[in-house]
Amino acid sequence: MTDSYCRVINYLRLSVTDRCNLRCIYCMPDRALDFIPHSEVLTYEEILRIVRLCIQLGIRKVRLTGGEPLVRKGFIGFINRLCRIEGLKEVSLTTNGVLLRGLAAYIRECGISRINVSLDSLRPERFFYITGRDYFARVWEGLEEAEGLGFSPIKINVVVMKGINDDEVLDFVNLALNTSYCVRFIEFMPLGQNGWTPERFVSIDEIYQLIQSKWDLIPIKSGPYDGPALRFRIGGTQGEIGLIGALSNPFCPRCNRLRLTSEGHLRGCLFSDQEVDLKTPLRQGKGDDYILRLIEFAIRNKPKDHGLLGYGPQGSLREMYSIGG
Ligand code: 5AD
Ligand code: SF4
Repeated sequence: MTDSYCRVINYLRLSVTDRCNLRCIYCMPDRALDFIPHSEVLTYEEILRIVRLCIQLGIRKVRLTGGEPLVRKGFIGFINRLCRIEGLKEVSLTTNGVLLRGLAAYIRECGISRINVSLDSLRPERFFYITGRDYFARVWEGLEEAEGLGFSPIKINVVVMKGINDDEVLDFVNLALNTSYCVRFIEFMPLGQNGWTPERFVSIDEIYQLIQSKWDLIPIKSGPYDGPALRFRIGGTQGEIGLIGALSNPFCPRCNRLRLTSEGHLRGCLFSDQEVDLKTPLRQGKGDDYILRLIEFAIRNKPKDHGLLGYGPQGSLREMYSIGG
């Protein structure tokens, strides 16, 4: 269905957990974390029911996110069922890659081939600084395993932060040149108490200029369902990079997304704290029609844009890990 700004909503981002095995500085705040109690997290059964209802309203693509989706127990069994739901055209996964080695084959067997892996540094010591864990090698091996298994595309998400990893942009471009990975540079967004400051912010414009000083970036024409990334070929090569300017180049007018948090709240926008609680009515035993009406309500009330232009006050009250990037 369409929202009140005539945007077709066909894409659901599904957070299966708010927990994670990393502590990225820009995501998990540096204090004791209040994770959602297990009893308040939707069961897989409940998630599957919501997905079936969303399909009735036009959702065709699902992306699994977290926290880190691979840390949730029973995840492989769940995606196996999810991928068989009739009406879904595409299921994809966003992961930090830590548990990819060993699980990649099962994920591929379920029918998922599109993965995004978050990786903000190619230097093990810096990876440790950014994520709080010494898992660079595991992620790297996970990526290689995924490539060997024929995952395609494999996208690498890099959140660029001034003074932290902005000196690695060209190294990442080289990675895109030398592998089949598509590297996407993402603007650092203010969410919850995540340490965002204007001094840490690097715009995709700056990243573009930096890369263009070395390589000729050739725009790839994007399709209507391509998502927020501006895509480029690097020179005459097969290498591809993407630039995601959540702040400087908002994608809001073309946004086709709905989000489901792990505790069962539907969210129209990453940056808006307007949520529709589906879990409570679900657990009260309400019927499909009732839940469908709530999903419609969430779609109809999807905000026009994220209201962050001018990079004004802090965005969402919730932390990224509890919404699901
Ligand atoms: N700004 C930009 N990207 C973020 N991510 C998490 N928090 C932020 C933030 N504050 C990214 C992760 C992951 C994706 C799901 O969202 O790196 O790639
Ligand atoms: Fe975990 Fe992703 Fe947040 Fe890093 S950004 S702490 S990997 S949920």
